[in-house]
Amino acid sequence: MCVRAPNVPSRGIIRHYCKTTPRKIRVAEALSGTELVGTRVKVQGWVRSVRSQKENLFLHVNDGSTVQPLQVVAGPELNGAPLTFGCAVDVTGSLVKSPSRKQPVELRADHVRVVGQCSPLQFPFKIKERHGLEYIRQFPHLRCRTNVFSALLRIRSEATAAIQSYFRGNGFVQIHTPVITSNDCEGAGELFGVAPPGHVAEEGEERDGHFFSVPAFLTVSGQLHLEVMSGAFPGVYTFGPTFRAENSQSRRHLAEFYMVEAELSFTRSLEDLTTVMEDMFKSATEHVLARCAEDVDLFHKHIAVGHGRNVDAMLTKRFNVISYTEAIDVLNRSSQTFTFKTDWGCDLQTEHEKYLVKHCGDMPLFVTDYPYDLKPFYARDNQDHPQHTAAAVDLLVPGVGELCGGTLREERLDVLRARLAHGGLEDTYGWYLDLRRFGSVPHGGFGMGFERYLQCILGVDNIKDVIPFPRFPHSCLL
Ligand code: 4AD
Ligand code: MG
Repeated sequence: MCVRAPNVPSRGIIRHYCKTTPRKIRVAEALSGTELVGTRVKVQGWVRSVRSQKENLFLHVNDGSTVQPLQVVAGPELNGAPLTFGCAVDVTGSLVKSPSRKQPVELRADHVRVVGQCSPLQFPFKIKERHGLEYIRQFPHLRCRTNVFSALLRIRSEATAAIQSYFRGNGFVQIHTPVITSNDCEGAGELFGVAPPGHVAEEGEERDGHFFSVPAFLTVSGQLHLEVMSGAFPGVYTFGPTFRAENSQSRRHLAEFYMVEAELSFTRSLEDLTTVMEDMFKSATEHVLARCAEDVDLFHKHIAVGHGRNVDAMLTKRFNVISYTEAIDVLNRSSQTFTFKTDWGCDLQTEHEKYLVKHCGDMPLFVTDYPYDLKPFYARDNQDHPQHTAAAVDLLVPGVGELCGGTLREERLDVLRARLAHGGLEDTYGWYLDLRRFGSVPHGGFGMGFERYLQCILGVDNIKDVIPFPRFPHSCLL
């Protein structure tokens, strides 16, 4: 007999389920306990191992829902079926209590269908082999089939949700800032132009033939758009792809990366920003550790052995704070020889950032009040002497270096106008000056590189291993 399944949204299609229709479940659901023992189920996934023993064939099937595979036990009639490592299968049977202590249940199959075959000789990943991240990186179209990369993708997905939940839980409104923009927020000359073929406008040129009539770029930061919104909301954030034409092959730079940015209104203190950065980091990490424990363990046991202890320490201790001026003193007093200069006024390089983090107990470290001349036009002038600094803060973390960068924004119309005029930007940023004319409030914000965050909590050395499809100079695969 067939019955209409209750509570199934029909969307115009009437679905009929036979009473004997097996319940389609995910491997994670099957392995979550023994409540489903005795239920007829259907599982769809990819074979991670095949072993024949006595009368039976044992398969491990993974469907991406958890790092653990489900053990499937099938009868001898399947011997000879093209069941190989990597093939896709559709398995129907009954869940039974497993005699092994390794898993609570196993699936006694009465039907196994090979949905997609996989040639073990040609498939680049080999059964029972633990391939290194560098090796699997060569196969961006296939690496999601490995345990380690599927774990990374689950962690990435949970971390995204955790960050969203942190901001929403704290009263921030999410703003979808544009990917295509006509501003160069950071002014660092790292823009990718956007134009249909044959329509490329030169810098500063405006012409009707151009698609947007003005030069347009892929965004390097949503900050200025968030600043617009901070004129109407106390807290806003954005989380999306960001693009930088940085000619760097380093282990912490990408041409396309995801950035989380927040903007807080009615603040005059860098401490308000550092509090949000630290809280967001800790809250998202706790969420990820709770929701993806096995996935994170895989990294802490096989990729960055023992890194779990470092993460625990980051979660329990307060982050350190020093000023840029103190940081320069520390560097100048150190016995280490650095490749780059450590004079007051020079930007901190990766080697300096790593030294400072180690010097301060290998814990996340806020460095505040950078030289004014190192910061973009929007940074608030501290108007101090003899050193001239801006109200800026970077968060440096072990193994990665700079994770977040933020500033209080210059809210004083006259100071901002003078700075824009100095850079010849007054006309370009007329609208930005307007923000300071109409109901302006002191505000500030920061951006956190999402891939660097994942590197930091997982202990992954190369940023290309924490993003599904890395883009960097001379590489845009797929
Ligand atoms: O320090 P940045 O350049 O700050 C801004 O863009 C500000 N407008 C953000 C704001 O205040 N709303 O970038 C922020 C973070 C860096 O600290 C770093 O973690 C990451 O973005 N980042 C990169 N990550 C990967 N590849 C790159 N090429 C990156 N450039 C910056
Ligand atoms: Mg920065």
